[in-house]
Amino acid sequence: MKYREIIEKMTLEEKASLMSGKDYWTSNDIERLGIKSMFLADGSYGIRKQKKASDKIGLNIGNPSTCFPTAATISNSWNEDLAEKIGEYLGAEAVDQKINVLLGPAINMKRNPLCGRNFEYFSEDPYLAGKLAAGYIRGIQSNGIAACVKHFAVNNQEQRRMTIDTIVDERTLREIYLTAFEIAVKEGKTKSIMSSYNKVNGTYANENIHLMKDILREEWKFNGCVITDWGGSNDRIRGLLAGNELEMPSTGGETNEEIVQAIKSGRLNEKVLDECVDRLLDLIFTTEKALNESYVKIDIEKHHRISQRVAEESIVLLKNKDNILPIKPNKKVAVIGEFAKEARYQGAGSSIVNPTILDNTLDCFEESGIVSIGYEQGFERYGKTNKKLISNACELAKKADVILLYIGLDEYVEVEGLDRNTMSIPKNQIELLDALYKVNKNIVAIISCGCALEMPWINKVKGLLHGYLAGQAGARSILRVLSGDVNPSGKLAETYPIKYEDTPSYNNFPGEEVSVEYREGPYIGYRYYDTVHKEVLFPFGYGLSYTTFEYSDIEVNKNSVTFKLNNSGSVAGMEVAQLYVGCKSDKIFRPKKELKGFAKVFINAGETKTIKIYFDDKTFRYFNVKTNRWEIESAEYEIMIGASSADIRLIDSIWIEGNNTELPYDKSNLPSYYSGKVTDVGLEEFEKLMGKKVPISTLDKKKKLGYNDTISQCKYAKSLIARISYYLMIFIHWILIKLGKREKANIMVMSIFNMPFRGISRMTGGIINMSMLDGILMIVNGKFFKGTAKLIKEKNKLVRSKRNK
Ligand code: BGC
Repeated sequence: MKYREIIEKMTLEEKASLMSGKDYWTSNDIERLGIKSMFLADGSYGIRKQKKASDKIGLNIGNPSTCFPTAATISNSWNEDLAEKIGEYLGAEAVDQKINVLLGPAINMKRNPLCGRNFEYFSEDPYLAGKLAAGYIRGIQSNGIAACVKHFAVNNQEQRRMTIDTIVDERTLREIYLTAFEIAVKEGKTKSIMSSYNKVNGTYANENIHLMKDILREEWKFNGCVITDWGGSNDRIRGLLAGNELEMPSTGGETNEEIVQAIKSGRLNEKVLDECVDRLLDLIFTTEKALNESYVKIDIEKHHRISQRVAEESIVLLKNKDNILPIKPNKKVAVIGEFAKEARYQGAGSSIVNPTILDNTLDCFEESGIVSIGYEQGFERYGKTNKKLISNACELAKKADVILLYIGLDEYVEVEGLDRNTMSIPKNQIELLDALYKVNKNIVAIISCGCALEMPWINKVKGLLHGYLAGQAGARSILRVLSGDVNPSGKLAETYPIKYEDTPSYNNFPGEEVSVEYREGPYIGYRYYDTVHKEVLFPFGYGLSYTTFEYSDIEVNKNSVTFKLNNSGSVAGMEVAQLYVGCKSDKIFRPKKELKGFAKVFINAGETKTIKIYFDDKTFRYFNVKTNRWEIESAEYEIMIGASSADIRLIDSIWIEGNNTELPYDKSNLPSYYSGKVTDVGLEEFEKLMGKKVPISTLDKKKKLGYNDTISQCKYAKSLIARISYYLMIFIHWILIKLGKREKANIMVMSIFNMPFRGISRMTGGIINMSMLDGILMIVNGKFFKGTAKLIKEKNKLVRSKRNK
């Protein structure tokens, strides 16, 4: 142990006290030993250090800081160096605000397009997400503080995120849901990891020995700290046994006392606690040193410009019929759509940033050189149809050569804590488009949102630019692409299905009340569409440019692939060349191709560059569930270089000698997985893939409600009062929506409906302890008088013990 000397000086109570937060954002300190508390702050695309640091639920607005584009946006840049740059700037701002641990990046896989937090995640592909995350982490940590990559693991939905049990087979877990984390640990060298709220195969992620010990510590040699997601600790002792150093936020000392008791009773060996303390001290001391030693003066303007550059590289041109873009000089442009005035540029929830500067499209027009003849709102932001706005917009459209139509999703639709209901944009925006199309067919739509959409209206637009959530400088960046000052080079990091029903997890999202079964196995995103030849709207890796690129001269050897890339158009541009690998043997089921490398290259018009992409330990591997190891199958592999997953330009193949170990599957048992047709996998076949029975996914409505049932499950409660309270909550939620208070309604879903009962104690900083919660649960389960008596008794006990301290 590195800090044995200090640890030996600590009392048991002092050691235990370090294992949980002091308040919502800080860890505990021990003054007499010079151990300071750390400040932990969100987030993933900008700093959210709350002005009033310790409000109990962490909702106060943050200090101003640069709002960079969100991860869903930046992933479209496919540029690891750029990710590292953002990391450096984020880290510098964190140091400036005295933050030891920056809670990001968030790297969960986009299993389903409706996940409410997809805007904060990178991709449906683990390799791309992992590489970009590693860049972020290197950048953040170059400032001496810690990144905290999150949410480990298999947290791919918001619905019931704090209780849902994700049932996933071992190979899919390793290949799809853990690979990005593996890269973040091994290549990014993240100093901390946030465990996710959900269960993985029956055990809370935070307590899951397989995840936390076998894989994270033993296989990946992770030596940093694991921090719970806020309120995500279930059984503190089990969490500690799995190697969880820090529980956040504060539980008012309750769980520290549990640790002390567990050691006294022999349930926990003090050595386990000492090791956790040792790792935590390392995090505290090293980040504290960095905060003391580094002085950074933040140049707000410069950070804003960096944010703009990042957005410019991330914007994706999806359609450009008749080369309507870039806008030709002297064309009269009508600007229509509420988002041109009030940009949608970031997400919502714990990641929300209070920007230092905010560019506005209408203000940036003049410098763009595009000639605007006026602006019309066109639609109401929150979905209400407004005929007057449409007719005003049409009047303006009639006078224009080109319409720039700013559409998208509002800030209450894609948020942390709840999933979207649909993949479409609001009806009132489509009505506007239909009306405009009748008067002027030269429409360029600019989309602002952080996720994939259905676009049945696509034939009505000639140009389509997806800005995603482009950060505080996004408005200007978009205009620079529209005007041609910037040649777009973003490519989609997720597939756009034609309709939601095409999604491989459509039948298994968001699962039942107890669990969600990942029956589609490894076939998420393009891995599915490509394997079964399902037509999509836009494939993974797709994006247009104002120039064209020719690929030629592929050469493959055991270590790398080399090819030539020529800019055959008339303007300079950047291309994202993608390496996909497919196995020609069919002994083990696999997606037809998988991303194994990529290169983003700038090429002048007419120039040719030679590109080399090296193979690595992930190029040919698969996880063998029989040998419980990564293996390489001896086989012929196809090496494909593409401009997208569906646009393969060069193919070669190579024989790779593998380890020829026992094959993991009996093909006849897993027909859906061998064909890739996984949308309707039956329970029996899924259980064969899992290698075991899967738990019942529905709630036993007759059983008593317990710590890990959600508050919304009060609808099944024995007690009439609890059931009435449930319907009252539904009513309040309905009223809030009707009154247009959607933010409050969303918070209600996140922090009440989907909250397990245990959260009442874990999230109230010691105001309600677990013994009081027992009283509450007795009331909920029909023992009103006994429960009330218990609640009062425990409350008094708590008050007395606080008074005596
Ligand atoms: C989110 C985390 C975030 C934490 C602190 C949680 O609800 O899931 O991503 O870092 O809150 O705000």
